[in-house]
Amino acid sequence: MNQFNKITATHTAHFQEILGAENVFIETDHLKEFGHDETEDLVFPPEIAVTPRNTKQVSQVMKYCFDEHIPVTPIGSQTGLSGGALSVFGGVGLSMKKMNSVLNLDEKNLQITVEPGLITEELQNAAAEKGLFYAPDPSSKGSCSIGGNLAENAGGPRAVKYGVTKDWVLNLEVVLPNGEIIWTGANTLKNSTGYNLTQLIVGSEGTLGIITKAVLKLIPAVPNNVSMLAQFDSSVKACEAVSAIFRAGITPSAMEFMERDALDWIMKFDESTAIKIEESTQAHLLIEIDGTDMDSIYQECEKVAEVLEQYECGEILLADNQAQKDEIWRMRRRIGEAVKSNSIYKEEDTVVPRFELPALLSGVKKIGEDYGFHSVCYGHAGDGNLHINIIKGELTDKEWNNELPKAIREIFELTVSLGGTLSGEHGIGYVQKNYMNIAFSEVELRILKSIKNVFDPTGIMNPGKLFAKD
Ligand code: LAC
Ligand code: ZN
Repeated sequence: MNQFNKITATHTAHFQEILGAENVFIETDHLKEFGHDETEDLVFPPEIAVTPRNTKQVSQVMKYCFDEHIPVTPIGSQTGLSGGALSVFGGVGLSMKKMNSVLNLDEKNLQITVEPGLITEELQNAAAEKGLFYAPDPSSKGSCSIGGNLAENAGGPRAVKYGVTKDWVLNLEVVLPNGEIIWTGANTLKNSTGYNLTQLIVGSEGTLGIITKAVLKLIPAVPNNVSMLAQFDSSVKACEAVSAIFRAGITPSAMEFMERDALDWIMKFDESTAIKIEESTQAHLLIEIDGTDMDSIYQECEKVAEVLEQYECGEILLADNQAQKDEIWRMRRRIGEAVKSNSIYKEEDTVVPRFELPALLSGVKKIGEDYGFHSVCYGHAGDGNLHINIIKGELTDKEWNNELPKAIREIFELTVSLGGTLSGEHGIGYVQKNYMNIAFSEVELRILKSIKNVFDPTGIMNPGKLFAKD
C-alpha cells in the first residue's frame, strides 16, 4: 500500500508562498466543501485545498507534491457521479475553479481554447454568440465544467447525433504528476502523428495529469429543432422502438428514455413542472429532431411517429415552441436530482449496443426481482446508455451493503455479455473500480496499469480511483 506523506505546516507555508494565502484552504468547513461531488452522499475532504490561477502554478504544486510524495486529487466543479473528485487519501485537493477563462475563440478555424474551470454552458454561450455550436451538453451543463467533462468523457442527450466530449477535443495542455508540462496533439481536425495522447487523457479521470488548457472544435450553429414526448404502456416496447427509428433512416439529435417513476418523482420534486401522464403509461421516449429547414424537421417527426406507432406508443406531445421545449428538457435534466432527493440510491451508468437496450432493461428488472430491489431507469437510449438508479427502499443496511454489490456485479456481467461496458459517460472513479475486472481481462488491466505507471510512477495522481487495490 502506498504510504503518502501527511500535510504539515511547512507544506502549507510553501503552498501559500507559491499561490498566495487566498488560494490555500485548510479550515475544516472549507475542506468539507471540497470533499464531495454529486456521487451518492460520499464526502472525503482533502487535508488542504488549493486554487491555482495558471499553468505555472499547477506545475509548481505538482512538482512539490511529487517531491514530497503527497497525493493530489483534481477537482472540477464537483458534479461528478463516480466519485472522481473525492480526496480518498486526503492530501491536496487541486481545484481548477479559478482557471475558468475563454482564452481564444478562433472564428477562422472554428476552434475555441479554454481553461478547464469554464462552465460548459458558458462555453456553449460563447460559441453561440458567434453563431457557432459546441454540442456536448451533460444534464448538469449549467454547473459542470469543461475540465471535468474531459476527465470523464462526459456525454449528454445530444451525443447521439454529435458525439461525446472526446469528439470535440483537438489538443490539450497537461501538467504531469512530476510538474512537467506537455501538449498532447495539434490544433488540427486530422492527426495521424504518433500515439493519440489527446484521447488517452480524455476519460482518464484525473489519474494521469491535470488538464490546464483545451482546444476544442466548434461547428456552425444548427438553428431549429422540435421535441416529441411519446408515452408507452410498456417500457420494453419503448426501448425496442429506439433502434427502429435509426433503422428507418432517422438520426435524432436526442433520444432519451425515462421510466414512469422518474417523471412522477420529478413532478413531486419540482412542482412547477406538470405534464399529463396516463394511468397506464410505463415509460416515455423524448426525441429531438434538429436541422435548418422546419419542413424537413416536421417530415422527420412524422416518420418518427409512424415508427413509434408500430411499437404501440400512446399519445405523442409535439413541443415546437420554446416554452414547451424548455419545460420538457428542464424536467429531463433534473431527473438525477429528483431521484437523489427522493431516496438513498446507487446509480450505475451502463451502456450496450443500441439494439440490446430492451434485453438490458428486462435483465435489470429480473435481477431486481431476484435481490428484492426497485430500480428507476432513464438515460440516453439512442446511445444504448441506461442510467440505472437502484433505490434502497425497504432493503436493510445489511442487504444494501452486503448483497447489493453482488446484484450490481450481475448487472455489469449482463451488460458486458450484451457487448456493452460499465460506464457510458460517468466514469469508473471511486465507486465502480471493483468491477473493472468484468470489463477487462488480466492482460488488458495490466496494460491500463502500465500506462498509469508511465505517467504517474509514484502513484500520487488521484489515487484510489479506476483500479481496485493492486
Ligand atoms: C443525466 C445524467 C445523470 O443523464 O447523466 O441526467
Ligand atoms: Zn446522462
